[in-house]
Amino acid sequence: MSVTVRVPAKVNVQLAVGAVRADGFHDLANVFLAVGLYDEVTVTPAAGLRVTCEGPGAAQVPLDRTNLAARAAIALAGRYGLTPDVHLHIAKDIPVAGGMAGGSADGAGALVACDALWGTGASREELLDICAELGSDVPFSLVGGAALGTGRGEKLTALEAGGAFHWVFAMAGRGLSTPAVFREFDRLTAGLDVPEPVASRELLDALAEGDPDALAATVSNDLQPAALSLFPELADTLAAGRAAGALAGLVSGSGPTTAFLARDTGSAEKIAQMLRTSGACADVRVASGPAPGATVVGGKA
Ligand code: C5P
Repeated sequence: MSVTVRVPAKVNVQLAVGAVRADGFHDLANVFLAVGLYDEVTVTPAAGLRVTCEGPGAAQVPLDRTNLAARAAIALAGRYGLTPDVHLHIAKDIPVAGGMAGGSADGAGALVACDALWGTGASREELLDICAELGSDVPFSLVGGAALGTGRGEKLTALEAGGAFHWVFAMAGRGLSTPAVFREFDRLTAGLDVPEPVASRELLDALAEGDPDALAATVSNDLQPAALSLFPELADTLAAGRAAGALAGLVSGSGPTTAFLARDTGSAEKIAQMLRTSGACADVRVASGPAPGATVVGGKA
């Protein structure tokens, strides 16, 4: 018996970051958009907990109990008095340590898959609680679509998206550590008055209207200076994407993936082609959003 769950990547169309809190996290106004790049998590009963991974960057994925998929299985089993005797297989397509919530996707995917495999019948609220314990972006990986994340990003309000937005993603040759990027944000803002993070009204309207030009005029990422400070070559990637005709270019989340908004699919393909030949990134993918959250796509009895 097995269950397979497909989970999307995300791009942050706005990432407003407040001052560091007493617990070390930062309050955010985080406008998430799920995009059609997916990891798949397949769970099968096994003699003990085991994690395997295939796909681009699989070698960088930890296969021990620090893997978010493993942590999700352990957390769900713990709540229901079960032992997490399960083989978790991750088929990766979301870049590893890329700022697109690949690890979070695997956590949400394992949770939904184990819930189905074990017949635990956890409510949506219970699953979202476990997701929030696993990481700030994990609840969004579960729900997908478009949403505003507040608190440390885990408190979600669903948002309207009035149409599909077409993106080109430029992957870097190495990853960036999210805690390191937040620490760099703290260093760069030390002594400054960091305002409360607030979602932009114009941006939410552009999203609701499905208007790529209006969205391009309002996208922002407060972590971008910190990501650029740790990874200065990303400035060249951003310049290459803009020169290729993107309506806007920004670092995705904590990076180092850069995201370029295109007017339509044809334009996205052209930008992707130019970026591929520019030599300014390691890989290029095209994807649109909003995409659905964690979804059971298969299973064997
Ligand atoms: O929640 P998650 O485990 O994904 O966060 C990873 C790290 O990113 C945290 O340990 C923290 O350093 C940083 N972070 C933060 N503020 C947030 C979310 C994450 O400082 N709102």
